[in-house]
Amino acid sequence: MTEQQTWSQRFESALHPAIARFNASITFDIELIEYDLTGSVAHAKMLAKCGIISPEEGEQLVAGLEQIRQEYQQGKFSPGIDAEDVHFAVEHRLVEIVGDVGKKLHTARSRNDQVGTDTRLYLRDQIKQIQKQLREFQSVILDIAEKNVETLIPGYTHLQRAQPLSLAHHLLAYFQMAQRDWERLSDVCRRVNISPLGCGALAGTTFPIDRHYTAELLQFDKIYANSLDGVSDRDFAIEFLCAASLVMVHLSRLSEEIILWASEEFGFVTLQDSCATGSSIMPQKKNPDVPELVRGKTGRVFGHLQALLVIMKGLPLAYNKDLQEDKEGLFDTVNTVKACLEAMTILLREGLKFRTQRLAQAVAEDFSNATDVADYLAARGVPFREAYNLVGKVVKTSIAAGKLLKDLTLEEWKQLHPAFAADIYEAISPQQVVAVRNSYGGTGFEQVRKELLAARAQVDS
Ligand code: ARG
Repeated sequence: MTEQQTWSQRFESALHPAIARFNASITFDIELIEYDLTGSVAHAKMLAKCGIISPEEGEQLVAGLEQIRQEYQQGKFSPGIDAEDVHFAVEHRLVEIVGDVGKKLHTARSRNDQVGTDTRLYLRDQIKQIQKQLREFQSVILDIAEKNVETLIPGYTHLQRAQPLSLAHHLLAYFQMAQRDWERLSDVCRRVNISPLGCGALAGTTFPIDRHYTAELLQFDKIYANSLDGVSDRDFAIEFLCAASLVMVHLSRLSEEIILWASEEFGFVTLQDSCATGSSIMPQKKNPDVPELVRGKTGRVFGHLQALLVIMKGLPLAYNKDLQEDKEGLFDTVNTVKACLEAMTILLREGLKFRTQRLAQAVAEDFSNATDVADYLAARGVPFREAYNLVGKVVKTSIAAGKLLKDLTLEEWKQLHPAFAADIYEAISPQQVVAVRNSYGGTGFEQVRKELLAARAQVDS
C-alpha cells in the first residue's frame, strides 16, 4: 500500500511500484482538478442540504476544497504517483487541511460518478472555447471574403479547371463547414451536459441525496435516469471526438488547398514570413509548415475517435478500468483542435497573400468558360446537349490551333452557329462568367454579397 492507505483494510501488502505507476492516472487526469473541485463543492453542499452531514461540516468541506483550488492555482499543489488519481489526491489533501470531517466528502458518491461528472464539466467548458475559436476563424474568413467578392480564382473538379469562381465564394465554403461544426458542437453539448453525479459506483445510494440539486448547482440540463448507464456512458465523449474529427477534416482540406496554392505550380498565394519556415539546406525554400502540420495532426484526432470506439465496444456494464483510457485521447483532441484553429486563424489573418494578378491571369487563359458558350447557345434556343457537343468540337480544334475561345473571330463563331453574335466575347469573359451565376448559393457577385451578409449575421448573433 502507499503510505496514504488508499483502499480499505482488506489489503495487506503494498502495490508493486511498477503496477502503481501502471494503474495511476494522476499524470494526466490532473487536468480535471478544477472540475473535480467544483463537482465536490456541489456534492458537499448537497450532503449538507439533505441533512446527510451538518451545515458546519458542509462549510468546512467547501472551504477546504476552495483552499486546494488556491493552492493548485498558485502552483503549491502537485500530487505525485502515490495519489493514484486526481480524485484521491484531492480527498487526501482535504483531510490534511480540514481533518477527519474531510473523510465525509465521499459519502454517497463513488469515483465512478465523480470522474464522469468531472469529464463532462471539462468537456462542456472546452466545447465553449472551441466554439469561440470557430467564430474567430469564421470571422477572419469573412474579412478576406468581403474584400474579394470580385477577385476571381479558378474553380476545379477532379483538380481539373472547371469554372472560374469568386474568391469570396470559394472561401465562404469553409465558412459554411465551420458553421456546421459550430452547430454540431452545440448539439453534442446537449448530451455532454447531463449529470451522472449520485449514480454512485453503479447502483445509486442508500442516502437520501438530491441529484437534481447537484445538477442545478453544476448547471447540468438534466440527470441520467439510470445509474448503470450514468457511470458507464461515454457516448458523449465519442460524439465530441466525432465532431472534432470533422473540424479537423475541414481544416485539413483547407490546409491542402493552401499548400497547393503556395506551390510554384499554382502560385495563387504567397506565404508571409511570420507563418512560413525555411529549409536547413535549400536556401531558396519557404515552406507551408503550418497547413502541413494541421493536415498531419488530423491523423491523431481520427485515431482518438477510433480508440474510444474500440475501448467501448466490448465493455460489460458498468464501470471498468478500461474507461480510464478515455482521457488522454480526449485531452489531446481538445488541445490539438484548439491549437490547429488558432494556427489556421493566424495563418489566414496574416500569413497568406492572394496573388490577385496571377489569379486573374489564370482564369483568362483556360477553357473554363466553355460551359458559358454552351449556355449562350442554349439561351438562344439550341438544345443544351447539342450546344455542348458543338462547343466540345470547338475546344478540340482550338487546342489543336493553340488558341483560346476568346481568340476566335466573329466570323469563326458564326460559321460554328448562326446564333453567335458580337456579344459572345463579353459573355465568355471571366468576370462575366462569374458575375452571372446568380442562382441561389451560386458564385455570382450578387449572390455572394447576399451570402456574405447572411454569414456575417450568423457570426454576430
Ligand atoms: N481514475 C479513474 C478513471 O479515470 C477514476 C475512477 C476509478 N474507479 C474505479 N472503480 N476504480 O476512470
